[in-house]
Amino acid sequence: MQTEEAWLTTPRLGLRRFRPGDSDFLVALYADSDVTRYLGGTKDASQTAAMLEERILGYYDDHPGLGIWMTVERTTGERVGFHLLNHIQGEDIIQVGFTLARRYWGRGYATEMARAVLRYGFVDLELPRIVGIAHLGNGASQNVLGKIWLRRNGERAFPHPAYTAAGPMAWFEVGREEWLAIGGTGTARGLYV
Ligand SMILES: CC(C)(COP(=O)(O)OP(=O)(O)OC[C@H]1O[C@@H](n2cnc3c(N)ncnc32)[C@H](O)[C@@H]1OP(=O)(O)O)[C@@H](O)C(=O)NCCC(=O)NCCS
Repeated sequence: MQTEEAWLTTPRLGLRRFRPGDSDFLVALYADSDVTRYLGGTKDASQTAAMLEERILGYYDDHPGLGIWMTVERTTGERVGFHLLNHIQGEDIIQVGFTLARRYWGRGYATEMARAVLRYGFVDLELPRIVGIAHLGNGASQNVLGKIWLRRNGERAFPHPAYTAAGPMAWFEVGREEWLAIGGTGTARGLYV
């Protein structure tokens, strides 16, 4: 990636909008059964194309400031996955989320950019609350949500077909005031860099 394309950066990563030409990346990501284990299973190319069109590209203009963005390694320009700040499907609720290609797991990338996205949501967009949902078996995702200061608060199930197979999901949330009070900006503690 050319770094100038990134609208949000961390020391190692940048976020940019998806483009139609990113379908190759998304198809490979959703063909990996390890990656999609807790995301409702693999998607084929036509399902992925629909997702790119409707849930990603079509969403930007309808919901300014929100979306699913490509996460890119700044030093190599490689596309590593995506981070999101968008509506839980069928709900009015704004969630933070992340998915990375398998080879990039375990480097702290999900946490690093999710912290920056959360800060953007609270400081720039002034959202009152941001939530996170994860499959009950998805320990890595729940771990990341906890590390970015969201609190586990039971379980919730959602009627939208995208979530029905998962059943009740682990529910995490944090309000803006609480996040500010616990030092979510992290600058003082060196957490958000
Ligand atoms: C979830 C995901 C984005 C995490 O990416 P990542 O860059 O490896 O995450 P990080 O390195 O920032 O942090 C992961 C944390 O979870 C821990 N972890 C990893 N696997 C775990 C598991 N099975 N159970 C519990 N914790 C686990 C890691 O040790 C790390 O915590 P630590 O820093 O305290 O050691 C990645 O695994 C992924 O893309 N999974 C598939 C898609 C997905 O499930 N997305 C979430 C949808 S809700």
